[in-house]
Amino acid sequence: MAVQFVMRITILVLLTYELAEAEAAAPPIAKPNCYNSSCGNLEIPYPFGIGPDCYMDKLFEVRCNGTGSSAKAFLTNIDKEVRQINISKRYSSIDPTVQVQMPIIYSNNCRSSGSDAALNISGSPFNFSFLYNTFISVGCDNFATITGLGPVVFGCKSHCNKSKNAERTRCSATNAREEETCKYAFLVDQNWLESNKPDPSSVQYWETVPIVLEWSISKQINNSRTMFESLKKRRDVRCSFLDEAEDFDSFACVCAPGYHGNPYLPGGCQVICPSLGLLFLVLIIWWLYKVIKKRNKIKLKQKFFKRNGGLLLQQQLSSNENNVQKAKLFNSKELKNATDCFNENRILGKGGQGTVYKGMLIDGRIVAIKKCNTVDEGNLEQFINEIIILSQINHRNVVKLLGCCLETEVPLLVYEFIPNGTLFQYLHEENEDFPLLTWDMRLRIATEIAGALSYLHSAASLPIYHRDIKSANILLDEKYRAKVADFGTSRSVTIDQTHVTTLVYGTFGYLDPEYFQTSQFTEKSDVYSFGVVLIELLTGEKPVSLTRSQEGRNLSAYFVHSLKENCLFDILDTQVNKVCNKDEVIAIANLAKRCVHLNGKKRPTMMEIMMELEGVQKVSPA
Ligand SMILES: *[C@@H]1O[C@H](CO)[C@@H](O)[C@H](O)[C@H]1NC(C)=O
Ligand SMILES: *[C@@H]1O[C@H](CO)[C@@H](O)[C@H](O)[C@H]1NC(C)=O
Ligand SMILES: *[C@@H]1O[C@H](CO)[C@@H](O)[C@H](O)[C@H]1NC(C)=O
Ligand SMILES: *[C@@H]1O[C@H](CO)[C@@H](O)[C@H](O)[C@H]1NC(C)=O
Ligand SMILES: *[C@@H]1O[C@H](CO)[C@@H](O)[C@H](O)[C@H]1NC(C)=O
Ligand SMILES: *[C@@H]1O[C@H](CO)[C@@H](O)[C@H](O)[C@H]1NC(C)=O
Ligand SMILES: *[C@@H]1O[C@H](CO)[C@@H](O)[C@H](O)[C@H]1NC(C)=O
Repeated sequence: MAVQFVMRITILVLLTYELAEAEAAAPPIAKPNCYNSSCGNLEIPYPFGIGPDCYMDKLFEVRCNGTGSSAKAFLTNIDKEVRQINISKRYSSIDPTVQVQMPIIYSNNCRSSGSDAALNISGSPFNFSFLYNTFISVGCDNFATITGLGPVVFGCKSHCNKSKNAERTRCSATNAREEETCKYAFLVDQNWLESNKPDPSSVQYWETVPIVLEWSISKQINNSRTMFESLKKRRDVRCSFLDEAEDFDSFACVCAPGYHGNPYLPGGCQVICPSLGLLFLVLIIWWLYKVIKKRNKIKLKQKFFKRNGGLLLQQQLSSNENNVQKAKLFNSKELKNATDCFNENRILGKGGQGTVYKGMLIDGRIVAIKKCNTVDEGNLEQFINEIIILSQINHRNVVKLLGCCLETEVPLLVYEFIPNGTLFQYLHEENEDFPLLTWDMRLRIATEIAGALSYLHSAASLPIYHRDIKSANILLDEKYRAKVADFGTSRSVTIDQTHVTTLVYGTFGYLDPEYFQTSQFTEKSDVYSFGVVLIELLTGEKPVSLTRSQEGRNLSAYFVHSLKENCLFDILDTQVNKVCNKDEVIAIANLAKRCVHLNGKKRPTMMEIMMELEGVQKVSPA
């Protein structure tokens, strides 16, 4: 809409400019200080002029008879009414001509008012134009000529067939009905004839017809030679002789290419260029366009920011005085640059919640940028939730949220980049990229996860439940240190005070059966999920597997059953089985069993788990 508006303004301005250019902006064509520069509707350009100071030479004098629009202009030198005076305003434009009213020359038997006064142009700067006139001869056996044009005799002979009474001969372009006795001939402006198409029978009653005369600065004019020399020096004027052969003949001038105006006036040719006003207007329009575009962009960003929960976030961030690190609000351009416009080959992974891209910020930091998949409300809420949760946490085993961007259509989260993949990949994707983890590493990772969760549950200012603990949400850094990630479904107690949600979140296999039944998430639900991760670390088995027997599909049930049957060492991972200190493994297995107890109350707290794991770690030489 804004663009349309600007377009409309532009067109309007250009139209006004065209008008202005045609009228006001045209350079003056009369001599300065010659206020009587027009007569009737006729503009009188220099070298023509009314009054001694306004014409170049008396030969170009114009006399104005009458006042107002009915006034008629006369060329005093040839004593003919002038209807039009053309000078060459631009390079290769119209020739210098005047259109004057010429009497028609009648011969015998014509109506008495006819004139036979021929025009004597010798000694004047005017000449008949062959280009713009047509010679017309009317009447039977008429032979009309034009003389006085130097060696050329221009004539026209008409012959009538007497027996066929009304036949007429045409010389040029007349359809005049023959009057047997009346003969006449005339030169006439061809353009005028073609555009007015006069009734042929009426021609004989006319006194005058318009005729085009060429004019030039002829040698009869005082100082024409010096005038030519000085005009020739001007860069903005081009002058040439009309007859190249002569030593000095009459000449005419035009404004040089790129100029327009009156070449005969000093400084009369002006550079053809858009006026300052137009430039100014174009600048204004351009500026307006930019402003509107920018405003729309800002509006859109604000809209996205609002819809993406930015206001809620701002409120949360500002009300929470003591949070350790504040999430930074990135701008969309920054993140677009960082990810190479969200290039496909920057994708680290795709999940239900969003796509994760690897990117580099301007300061050189490598980051992971999560882009929400959809703009549906539930997803958005999860995003904001994650921002709020993570911005309250500062723990070495929790993935660090650097900031977010809410002014894009879908919100973006910016995390520290954790280079080594997920725990799930190490345990279940046998691959060169993911070497098998030793028992010591597994123990350390478990301790670190427990430490992070225990911090979330107790040490953080408000208890935070992760709600989706699983090996795929545990990232490993370059030193295989665990980083708990994906807080999209996490809840802080204040945010979700009732602890009751109608929907059960979580991943099958890790989901606390008690929570599943009661829809009531407790800290022990996180403990259950952690227990499953612990069992994964021990057995290297997936939490749900169709390759196991029917009752063993669920890893925790399978594990508990195996413990009961005393065949723990049959199901352990080969890496774990290598361990010499079997007590250590048994201790962890028992801890895992307690974690996945069906009764949440019987499960240890994360704090207890952490301490127990740390105890085991201390005993073993790491
Ligand atoms: C303009 O013409 C009028 C009459 O047509 C005359 O009275 C007046 O003095 C002229 N002005 C100039 C400046 O020549
Ligand atoms: C000027 O015009 C008037 C009336 O239009 C006319 O009577 C008069 O003859 C004209 N003068 C000249 C010199 O043409
Ligand atoms: C003189 O100029 C007018 C207006 O520009 C134009 O209509 C006319 O054709 C020109 N006459 C000749 C003979 O070029
Ligand atoms: C035409 O005018 C010139 C002077 O202006 C004169 O010498 C010449 O005789 C005139 N010719 C005719 C045919 O009147
Ligand atoms: C008029 O034009 C003819 C042909 O171009 C030329 O010979 C003659 O000298 C010109 N007359 C004047 C007065 O310019
Ligand atoms: C005149 O017209 C008649 C009939 O139309 C024709 O026979 C005759 O040849 C014509 N004469 C001339 C000189 O054209
Ligand atoms: C030409 O100039 C002379 C002297 O400078 C002057 O007497 C004469 O009137 C001028 N002729 C014209 C037509 O202006």
